Amino acid sequence: MDDVGAALAQLQREGLYRRPRTIAGFANGRAEIEGHEVLVLCSNDYLGLRDHPAVREAAAEAAIRWGAGSGSSRLVSGNLELHEQLERELAEFKGSEAAVLFGSGYLANSGVIPALAGAGGVILSDAHNHASIIDGCHRSGAQTIVYEHADLESLADGLRRADGRPALIVTDAVFSMDGDLAPLVGIVAHAARHGARVLVDEAHATGVIGPGGRGLVAALGLERQVDVTIGTLSKALGSYGAFACGSRQTCDWLVNRARTLIFSTALPPPSAAAGLAALRLLREQPQLVDRLHANARLIRAELDAAGLTPGHVQLGAPVAAREGGMAVVGARVDARIPIVPLIVGDPHEAVRRCEAALAAGVFVQAIRPPAVPAGSSRLRLTVSAAHTAAELRQAARVLAVSVGVAGDGALPDVHLAPAVRPHRHPEQRDDEADAADDHQDHADRVDVDAACRGRDRKLQDRADRDQEQ
Ligand SMILES: Cc1ncc(COP(=O)(O)O)c(C=O)c1O
Repeated sequence: MDDVGAALAQLQREGLYRRPRTIAGFANGRAEIEGHEVLVLCSNDYLGLRDHPAVREAAAEAAIRWGAGSGSSRLVSGNLELHEQLERELAEFKGSEAAVLFGSGYLANSGVIPALAGAGGVILSDAHNHASIIDGCHRSGAQTIVYEHADLESLADGLRRADGRPALIVTDAVFSMDGDLAPLVGIVAHAARHGARVLVDEAHATGVIGPGGRGLVAALGLERQVDVTIGTLSKALGSYGAFACGSRQTCDWLVNRARTLIFSTALPPPSAAAGLAALRLLREQPQLVDRLHANARLIRAELDAAGLTPGHVQLGAPVAAREGGMAVVGARVDARIPIVPLIVGDPHEAVRRCEAALAAGVFVQAIRPPAVPAGSSRLRLTVSAAHTAAELRQAARVLAVSVGVAGDGALPDVHLAPAVRPHRHPEQRDDEADAADDHQDHADRVDVDAACRGRDRKLQDRADRDQEQ
């Protein structure tokens, strides 16, 4: 164990040591950490559904009706009506023939990729794909060719190297660390030309983008050109678990071949029921997605105004284009995406700025290698439909002070009033406070709309000017 001690010490020296924060309570996009209430800007609960009363009730009722666990794999005795109902509704939502549940997004990618590609085959994987995809590729036994991030030329080159062997292209739809979008139209065109199959991971696209939150594949009308989409219940749907969508035959194959489904206990009933309740809420209230988009635009505008330009600059990589003040490498940035990276570079600096922001009442996590390439450590902000405009404005001001300093090692004292109050669950709020909050919330929404209209007008003006030139 001396080796482990030395390796941990080395991680600490490199600024790569990690420890989980203890959350003592969570509600409405805010959490209690070490006795203080902080605004959470690092959760993937994009629609604020994880603590929605209907979702919590569905989980509780399922625990009472079905029990806490499923008891075994789907293929032994764990296949519940509830799972099949959720699969039907997910397939309908995603516009696919069928869907199959997995224990998590990590398990889905680790199981589906090896079921679709094996020895003798080739996988073309985007350089920025999520770790679960990378691990799925490793497990498959296929040759993996990593193509340059969102680079269609590099993909085409990889397909030529596949030289007629069965090929599978795998990409995130919305990249989890940068929030940029995969060039899916080009990807499916290359796939068609080379007879390759396509798997798109919509973990950060489901509930986030596309008609009613159906994802990027649906937004682009590519449901028939993409062989498998992966989605999670754990992010915008506020629960836990994941699913793969595809043809009935493909899903049948996954049930028979995906080892992470066959050899793992089926999704617990409370998670499945919570996911189903969240999905139904999303279908009934697609305006939740509009609200998320408004908040994503607002935080970008506020950060910009505070002089903190969200960055996508990968050190050492060529900057292909500039869009809305952001440096973009190949992939497309869409201001509606709620993932906003603030690239700091050095991992120690990222941690220092994370601590400074937390001390000022804003929880943004420092993301460091291996989650992101060396030299691109960052604070990865994520906003949610649950945040109010006032909260996001204050967060931008806090971040401008605690994060937006040049990398000269000098971090100013944070003087902004921290948003720290003892944590109160919504049930503990008195009526008066609720009414004041509702009032403020309504006023904030009006502001968000106005801010977005202003920004959209500016973007439109710029597009008009570009066209005239
Ligand atoms: C693109 C992507 N795929 C898959 C996963 C894994 O999903 P889960 O958290 O459900 O295991 C993540 C999680 O962050 C992700 O970002």
